[in-house]
Amino acid sequence: MNSPHTDVAPRIIHAADELRRVVTAARRAGKTIGLVPTMGALHEGHLSLVDAARRDNDLTIVSIFVNPTQFGPNEDFANYPRTLESDLDLLAGRGAQLIFAPRTDQMYGPGHATHVEVDGPALRLEGAFRPGHFRGVATIVLKLFNLASPDRAYFGRKDYQQSLVIRRMVADLDLPIHVEICPTVREADGLALSSRNRYLSPEERPRARSISESLRLAARLVEQGTRDAATLIARMSDVLRAADLKLDYVALADPDTLEDVSVVDGPTVALIAARLGKTRLIDNEVIG
Ligand code: PAF
Repeated sequence: MNSPHTDVAPRIIHAADELRRVVTAARRAGKTIGLVPTMGALHEGHLSLVDAARRDNDLTIVSIFVNPTQFGPNEDFANYPRTLESDLDLLAGRGAQLIFAPRTDQMYGPGHATHVEVDGPALRLEGAFRPGHFRGVATIVLKLFNLASPDRAYFGRKDYQQSLVIRRMVADLDLPIHVEICPTVREADGLALSSRNRYLSPEERPRARSISESLRLAARLVEQGTRDAATLIARMSDVLRAADLKLDYVALADPDTLEDVSVVDGPTVALIAARLGKTRLIDNEVIG
């Protein structure tokens, strides 16, 4: 829908009411809107979402907001990389037209007391290790949906559980938004791109590739006939422990409900959360 990359600096909007005005005008002009919600510290994974949004819509809005409510008290909110200048350069190069970068007090004003309570696929895995995380994600994503009023919203498959939670919210709350889940973008050695990869030390970085190796091993073993989930999980965990990663979870789950499977006899999602030093990484792959 969009013209090729123009490398024109995108317009930056900080205030919610200004975003609403622009979105209302775009709607009146019959334009379709694509939203790419991000927390900044952009990499090629985010930029692939921008490409998809530009392809499908007349106006692409990228939000950049490090959302405090999705971080636990001992997590990396204060240190989360904030790289607005380089993010804007990257987005200009990819032809994003509009950046919404609000301040925290604009998204959570004084007395803010309303949150989206999430259940079902939000309760397991990340939900168990990061209590309140998906409540924070769902709350900010709903607020961004309300402000940007997109036809389509774009998320990465790397955050598999997040994409299920958002799809669930959109269905349950009857939001007229199409949720597009785009493929994980990986480094040459298989490591899934993540803003948190920049925390890895030169010594940790090569060990991080064991995460995608472990997922590939699971896929290979299933292809070769191993179906027992406990055996597969043990083999995956061995790969991660050999690289000295600390495991939060290694799971084989139903791709829709995220309930554990005991036998891989159809499409199954393999999910990993592991820590290298202070860095916590997640990844997944649908296998079977
Ligand atoms: O995936 C992310 O970066 C965040 O969870 C999101 C969707 C932008 C909400 O803050």
